[in-house]
Amino acid sequence: MNPRPDPFNRTLSYLHQHVGPLIVAFFSAALVGLFTTADAKILQILIDDVLAPKNYGLLKIALVILLAVHILRGLFLFTSRYLVSRIGHRISRQIREELFRKVEALPLSYFEKNRSGQILARMSSDVPVVQGALMMTNTALTHSLTVFFCLALMCWLSWKLALFSLILLPVISTVVRWLSRRLRRVGSLMQERVGDLTASFSEAISGIREIQAFGAEEHQLNRFRQVNQAGYEAFMKGTKYTSLTSPIVELFYASGMALVIWAGARTVISGGLTVGQLVEFLACLGMMFHPLRSLTEIQATVKQSLGAAERIYDLLDEPLCIESRPGAPALVSVKGKVEYRGVSFDYGGENPVSVLFDIDLCLLPGQVAALVGKSGAGKTTLVNLLPRFHDATKGGIYIDEVDIRAVDLKSLRSFFGIVPQETFLFSGTIEENIALGKPGASSEEIRCAATDANAMEFIARLPEGFATVLGERGVNLSGGQRQRVAIARALLKDPKILILDEATSALDTESEALVQDALNRLMQNRTTLVIAHRLSTVAKADQIVVLEAGTIRETGTHGDLIALGGLYHHLCKAQVLEAPIPSDVS
Ligand SMILES: Nc1ncnc2c1ncn2[C@@H]1O[C@H](COP(=O)(O)OP(=O)(O)O)[C@@H](O)[C@H]1O
Ligand SMILES: [Mg+2]
Repeated sequence: MNPRPDPFNRTLSYLHQHVGPLIVAFFSAALVGLFTTADAKILQILIDDVLAPKNYGLLKIALVILLAVHILRGLFLFTSRYLVSRIGHRISRQIREELFRKVEALPLSYFEKNRSGQILARMSSDVPVVQGALMMTNTALTHSLTVFFCLALMCWLSWKLALFSLILLPVISTVVRWLSRRLRRVGSLMQERVGDLTASFSEAISGIREIQAFGAEEHQLNRFRQVNQAGYEAFMKGTKYTSLTSPIVELFYASGMALVIWAGARTVISGGLTVGQLVEFLACLGMMFHPLRSLTEIQATVKQSLGAAERIYDLLDEPLCIESRPGAPALVSVKGKVEYRGVSFDYGGENPVSVLFDIDLCLLPGQVAALVGKSGAGKTTLVNLLPRFHDATKGGIYIDEVDIRAVDLKSLRSFFGIVPQETFLFSGTIEENIALGKPGASSEEIRCAATDANAMEFIARLPEGFATVLGERGVNLSGGQRQRVAIARALLKDPKILILDEATSALDTESEALVQDALNRLMQNRTTLVIAHRLSTVAKADQIVVLEAGTIRETGTHGDLIALGGLYHHLCKAQVLEAPIPSDVS
């Protein structure tokens, strides 16, 4: 494996695509630096050649030049800032897209291990920090050149005096370097705290129902206060160092200035320099001050931003433990045979606990398997292995005799339809939400799927029918309505293999009947794995699989298992599987 490039070079590598505008921007920035220095020269001409000899003609010319220089300077300043900002925004846009793409590709286990707030902070707080640092590159260039031209002019006027004025520079730079080292450390801390704050906030938003129902407002607020306080302390630490920088640097600057004025005045008196030249020299020294200070600040900011960049790259480089093997062929057509062969699984972590042991299970095309077992038995885990939300730790899963890990992941998933216990609806219209099952589906197909999903009746009652906007700022649907949207999605996708994970268990009896009716339609001619609590659903299955603590305890039809008088029989009697046995099953 290649060693990771350091975050600085990696950030610079984003600039490669913008070389043209970057050159123009830097060229303009350089001219801004040059034109800034021109003021000092004009000042000298004013004193030595206009005021002393009382030359009115030259005064007009000098003022015209002054104006012209500043108009040009403004023009170049605009060009360089505009171009560099545009580059910064474009790079941010690119990084945000890369982050989004990455988040979409990450295995589910990543989101179980990391809090969403921390992931969000990469986008909301780290990207702007990196962008800010990128945009400072041209300010840094302008300032460096201003300093360079000022120094050149000073040396040209009197190299001795120039050298003399640099005496204090090593001292200043040592102090500033010490300060910026501190700042960098504090910077990482501050960004981390911002992540914690975002995470706390987003947790409160996700859990608002629980907070309000349990009256946990005060308790959660107290927890937030701790995070908030820790953030405050980190920010204040940062403030201490940033506020210290200015007074310290200014103190050194004033001492240096005093020394130079003392030496410069002596040179003028002894005839080494004209008055205008001394003023020019001092003006240069003065003009160097702001850029020099700003350069040290930029250096500190850039160092701070490296921490943010590193966190972004950590996320971008997060290994995808579930991805297609290079060159894996696409799964083209599927009959629907599903086979688990000696599958074991654990969720990993420091002390992995086995969740599934040695599972063997075979479903022929079109068959229905019902998984039953107590909560925590491993039913969801078992079905989640099929579309590779997780990979088995031992054994393998085969579809039509093909190992699911040997084929292209996207093509594999295209054969599955999943109706979970609770369905997430994206912000957008109801039509778009159904079309998630088949991007680009015609409105005819969408209506057909909605009809078969028993969703037509409630969609027709929505204010704008299929065009009704759902999600955060739109209409909210009831649980039963959501499930019917999920079924419509699945119908539209027309999958070969169907996974129903407690699709009706969060519903009331009335909407359950409607949803169950739609599900029955959906299950026709598809290999189905269904996790259900209704005996009416379970009893009809071709195969009932009874799971206990990750192992298959019993398999067979309803009749077989009742006759066996084991765990299934017990579950039925204890009404863990409730509802009367339907008349078509005896
Ligand atoms: N993301 C996860 N990380 C670690 N352990 C998990 C995770 N999801 C489920 N488990 C554990 O795996 C076991 C089986 O869970 P699950 O498959 O959800 O059971 P069921 O669907 O039968 O209720 C449980 O002990 C549960 O605590
Ligand atoms: Mg479950």
